[in-house]
Amino acid sequence: MGGMGKAGIVLNILLGIVVVGGASVGTYIYTNLSATLAETRAELTGTQERAQGLSDELKETKDYIARLETALSAERNKNGVFENQISKLTGTVGVLEKLSKTDPELLTKYSKVFFLNENYSPPALSPISEEYLYQKDRILTLHKSVEPYLENMLSAAKKDDIDLLVISAYRSFGTQTALKNSYKVTYGSGANAFSADQGYSEHQLGTTVDLTTAQVGATFSGFDTTDAYDWLTENAWRYGFVLSYPKGNTYYQYEPWHWRFVGKDLARQLHRDEKNFYDLDQREIDEYLAEIFD
Ligand code: DAL
Ligand code: ZN
Repeated sequence: MGGMGKAGIVLNILLGIVVVGGASVGTYIYTNLSATLAETRAELTGTQERAQGLSDELKETKDYIARLETALSAERNKNGVFENQISKLTGTVGVLEKLSKTDPELLTKYSKVFFLNENYSPPALSPISEEYLYQKDRILTLHKSVEPYLENMLSAAKKDDIDLLVISAYRSFGTQTALKNSYKVTYGSGANAFSADQGYSEHQLGTTVDLTTAQVGATFSGFDTTDAYDWLTENAWRYGFVLSYPKGNTYYQYEPWHWRFVGKDLARQLHRDEKNFYDLDQREIDEYLAEIFD
């Protein structure tokens, strides 16, 4: 100790105090920092756990929504199917109701195929306007529901400067009998080529007319070379009328004047397919019965 004076000792003591104090402060700071770090870590872990929990909840909610959406869409599909079924049923009921009110004879193939008994006559008849009659002093009638279609057609023709006149329309069983008998007197069995036996004429249905022009008249001679015939060929289907006996038909001679109402749908279809009424099976034809007056 001899070399170290008092001052040295004091200095050493002070130095010792500084070193020990510094170490203590360092330890204190270090301890605090460690605690803060541990707390922060714990908080972070807590936050991570909460985030995981939220993420799990979100996933569950999403799954739940997806399941609800699937169930909703299945329900909607079921409702859609149900609505379809209801609308199909309503449609079917509508068709059945129409069919129950529509006389199946209206689309039956007569002309040597089926027989209309002598008591058959349309439920109601309407007179054809005088302006369309070939002979103004006669009364010609047609099935009440068909007559407006004829007048529509004839007035449309008139607007196109085509003068079509009706020479024959509804003929009762009795009228057909008398007519056929008179033809037989003149033509014998030859009458079968152009005149139906009673019960087989489309005229008894009240849906059929014989048309001519003022020039051609009652003989129908050359009717198929007139503008009136061309107009009918192009337009009659639009009003629901078709030619029953075209060239080469197996029933009667070619009758360009004889037009039968079959309804717009069937007439349009026949026109589109370039077919004749008698080319179709009765079953195919009957599919158009419910819409005949649509
Ligand atoms: N002229 C047709 C064939 C009828 O008499 O009905
Ligand atoms: Zn006729």
